[in-house]
This record gives sequence, C-alpha cells and structure tokens, in this order.
Amino acid sequence: MENIASFLKQNLKTHCIGKRLHYFEVTGSTMDIARDLAEKHAPEGTVVIAGKQNVGRGRLGRSWLSPVGGLATSIILRPPAKKIRLIPAISSLAVVHALYNMDLKAHIKWPNDVLITGKKVCGILIENGFSKVDLNYTVIGIGINVNFDTSAFPEIAGIATSLSMEMGKDVPVEEVAVQLYSEIEKLYERIGDGNDLIREWASHMETLGKRVRVSLGSRTIEGTATEVNDSGNLLIRLDDGSIQEITAGDVTHVRDQ
Ligand code: BTN
Repeated sequence: MENIASFLKQNLKTHCIGKRLHYFEVTGSTMDIARDLAEKHAPEGTVVIAGKQNVGRGRLGRSWLSPVGGLATSIILRPPAKKIRLIPAISSLAVVHALYNMDLKAHIKWPNDVLITGKKVCGILIENGFSKVDLNYTVIGIGINVNFDTSAFPEIAGIATSLSMEMGKDVPVEEVAVQLYSEIEKLYERIGDGNDLIREWASHMETLGKRVRVSLGSRTIEGTATEVNDSGNLLIRLDDGSIQEITAGDVTHVRDQ
C-alpha cells in the first residue's frame, strides 16, 4: 500500500480524478482531510487515500471499520448544485463497474451500499459543503473491503465480505483504486445525462422488488421497494397500498417477493 501513490501517478490515465493525490499510511478519517482541502480550494478531482483509518465514518452517524487491507478514499468534486441527486448513483455505479472489470459481480443496496452475494463489500458516504449561497463541494468517501477476512471482526462478520474472500486470493489495492477512479471519471463526465444515470443505477439495484424494512430514525416501516424516482429517492409500497418516498434511511432486505 505504501507504493500506491507512485503506482497511481504512473498508471492512472484520468484527466481529473486522482490527478492530485494525498496518501496517508494511517489517519483519522479521509473525510476530514478532504473537507479541509476542499475548504482550502483544492481542485476538483483531488483524492485522499489512507492505508488505515482510526476513526472511519459511516452513514447515519455510524463508524466504519477501516483496517489495513482496505481501500479508504475520499474524492473532492464540485458538481452544479442541481446535479447533486446524481452523486450517489455515480459513486455506487462506479464501484459496480470497477468490480465488474475485475471479474466480480456486485449489486447496489439503496442508496449506495455495494454488495456481493448479499454481503456488504463497500460503503459510501457523501458529504456536501455549502457556501452562503450555493453548493461549494461534495466529498465522496468510499471504503472497499479489499484484502482482509471480515470474520476476524465480530461487528461485521457474517454481514460483510471482501474482495479477497470472494476471489480466493489477494487483490492489488492499487489496481482497485485505478479502476475506481477511472470509472468515477467516466460516469462524472456523463453527469448531464441525468435520468439515464438514475435508470442505470436502478438496474443494478438489488433492493427493487424486494420486501424491505426501513429504519427512519424514530420509526421503522416495512413494505416492497418498487422504484427509484428521478430524484434518486426510494419508493416503498406499504401493506395498505400507500406509497412512501424515502430520501434517507437504513434499508434492510427482508426477503425476495
Ligand atoms: C457506510 O456504509 O456507512 C459508509 C462508509 C464510508 C466509508 C468511507 S472509507 C473512506 C471515507 N472515510 C471515512 O471516514 N468514511 C468514508
């Protein structure tokens, strides 16, 4: 992992994503470093990578386990505010494409968890920075379990997998990073496509058609996930036939319908 920065400098053929790169062997959270850089006007495409995070952050205030052998990265983008609904789609689709390029078939759990055979292999955290009037930047934080055995960590054993567990051998982290940044760039260049990206995202989404339970903080609902709308929100048909639109929440797949 210590050579990942020089590997990327030589092998990454992108125009924007990863052209500026900050590597840390160990850090708290790459999100904090990226936000700091973004506030200090770091250019779009700047990435932060860590070999290990001591206080990795997850969605909904949770922590993210980020040991040696994982890929922990944050990417600074400056999309137009009206395109921000596409960032979850772009980031999770990029991971699915990157893994596909490495012969792994992955699916998305709404909004942007990436699963292999139903187990989580990647989590994505998106944080936005606003100026007084507009969106200033967005930071996409991506954590991929690459080369470690998730069963060694009781908090994720059984519900998470890693690329090495799926492939039966170690996978070069730097190759995963090259694939990831290249795929993000390709999709980000298509940000004008809007609803096509949403539809492509939905087509890789394991959640649709499934019976789901959604934790909305203080209450939980259960129903069938029917659709992702143009805003990227998830529509749930409740048992009384009514439709509930979810903008954020924790989805559990209960069983196939
Ligand atoms: C989740 O599934 O809850 C999202 C996890 C996001 C983890 C990544 S690892 C790189 C970046 N730094 C962090 O502290 N979090 C994100």
